[in-house]
Amino acid sequence: MLDGKIIMITGAGGGIGAATASLAAAEGASVVLTDVNKEAVEATAAAVRAAGGSVLAVAADLTKGDEVNAVVKAAVAAYGRLDGAFNNAGVSGGQIGQQGRRVGEWDEAAFDLAVAVNLKGVWLCMRAQLAQMEQQGGGSIVNTASLAGLTGFKSTAGYAASKHGVVGLTKTAAIEYASSGIRANVLCPGYTDTNLMKEAQRQLGDALLARIPARRLASPDDIAQMACWLLSDRSSYATGSEFVVDGGYMAG
Ligand SMILES: NC(=O)c1ccc[n+]([C@@H]2O[C@H](COP(=O)([O-])OP(=O)(O)OC[C@H]3O[C@@H](n4cnc5c(N)ncnc54)[C@H](O)[C@@H]3O)[C@@H](O)[C@H]2O)c1
Repeated sequence: MLDGKIIMITGAGGGIGAATASLAAAEGASVVLTDVNKEAVEATAAAVRAAGGSVLAVAADLTKGDEVNAVVKAAVAAYGRLDGAFNNAGVSGGQIGQQGRRVGEWDEAAFDLAVAVNLKGVWLCMRAQLAQMEQQGGGSIVNTASLAGLTGFKSTAGYAASKHGVVGLTKTAAIEYASSGIRANVLCPGYTDTNLMKEAQRQLGDALLARIPARRLASPDDIAQMACWLLSDRSSYATGSEFVVDGGYMAG
């Protein structure tokens, strides 16, 4: 599905990003992996390499423009171009100590961090990727939002705000860059079994599963399948849309 493509994946140190790295490589892509957690991204890269994939790992904090630019530069230096990008790194309220807090109760520093990673980080990545893709004549960008990018969820203030922002940012890029052959879509995973969900899972337990018609969390691979399809030419007419993969949650 991704034969010969060069694909950058952020948040590749674990969860959905790591699963997408493995699947994209198995589908024929060369993958450029990045994460703020150096050891974690190198572990994902080693797994991809062991499975026979072509991979480059570059540690970077995506809230910093110069570090983001360096990742795209390294990708182009290694492989000559960038066909696709999965801007997927993110932090949840639970991961930064805000689980259970209402809008008026979030810490200011936590709100700033959620917006810096989940929204500004995606924009910084897009800025560097769009410049490269425009120069080479096309590409596919997939940004990870969330169900919390589409509707409200209790205790997600900074998270929901940042993820709604990702939806607007992606749609704006889709209409601005369609004439340059660049597509941009939003992937909205439902509850997925990764580190990001651990705190919510611990607090909500079975009550969480009871809300999901499929009665299970998504596996990271369930989400990776949609990411790879959106990165591939099979989705060539899809741009500016949200793709929900949630076991039926939003249908109820
Ligand atoms: N797990 C879920 O239920 C769920 C649901 C909806 C959306 N999402 C979204 O999916 C994406 C992937 O999350 P996941 O569930 O795989 O969680 P995860 O915690 O396993 O992975 C997120 C990765 O992002 C990295 N990261 C965090 N801050 C960073 C920074 N400043 N620079 C670079 N990398 C950074 C982390 O080190 C981590 O490896 C996130 O955007 C998340 O908001 C997850």
